[in-house]
Amino acid sequence: MADETLTTLQQQVQTRQTMEQNITQLFAPEDEGLRNALAAAKAAGLPPIQISPIQGKFLQLLATMGNAQKILEIGSLAGYSGIWLARALSPGGRLLTLEIDPKHAEVVRNSFAAAGVADRTEVRVGKALDLLPTLQSEAPFDLVFIDADKPAYPQYLEWALRLTRPGSIIVADNTIRGGRLREPEQLTDPIEKAVAQYNKNVAHNPRLQSLALAMDDDFTDGFTIAIVRPEERQ
Ligand code: SAH
Ligand code: DHB
Ligand code: MG
Repeated sequence: MADETLTTLQQQVQTRQTMEQNITQLFAPEDEGLRNALAAAKAAGLPPIQISPIQGKFLQLLATMGNAQKILEIGSLAGYSGIWLARALSPGGRLLTLEIDPKHAEVVRNSFAAAGVADRTEVRVGKALDLLPTLQSEAPFDLVFIDADKPAYPQYLEWALRLTRPGSIIVADNTIRGGRLREPEQLTDPIEKAVAQYNKNVAHNPRLQSLALAMDDDFTDGFTIAIVRPEERQ
């Protein structure tokens, strides 16, 4: 009995992997620029924690659907998600990405150049919570992608709301966490607590229309997406 159960679970995991591979191959194949960003990240010893190709394509679709001209990313790593996003920009559009680690920022700049998006992107080095207050004059951003240190997610949401307009899209990565998120008050792990608080604040904010979607490479983590509602519907 135990063996049968195990086989079933293995089959389910395999089915999910096959689904992921098929969808990736057809809808989100990586080109030379994206593959180079992954190789450069590996060569520089960065952790392999970038979003999946499906998540990258999804971000790109959201940016295109929202006709994004100005995109803000919090947490660049090696530029993988940034390349997907930058490619959704129409001529004259800009992606600004914030990164605390100068070594990561250097990899990002090289990866952006190799992917042909250096002209429309800018990497700013520093602690996101120090940089965000300096961005008021560059706002509103049409899309904000939050993917840096998790304990600051609730604060990043506050900044995202200040730096956007009705119709802007706010996306955060790693907000499902294998189903471990419950009421933030019941959690003690600082990451789980903060991310659960992020989801609660997004879901309960009358200015936002939102959903969490499991869509990472094994469907155990994913994005919370939100759109800022028009003023008259607040
Ligand atoms: N968005 C990237 C992955 C980001 S990983 C991708 O999918 O390709 C998280 C990144 O956030 C790391 O590079 C880390 O150095 C950076 N980071 C962590 N804390 C930060 C902070 N306080 N301010 C800015 N960046 C931070
Ligand atoms: C980690 C961070 C991420 O943004 C992610 O997508 C996966 C893992 C981490 O810090 O371990
Ligand atoms: Mg992430």
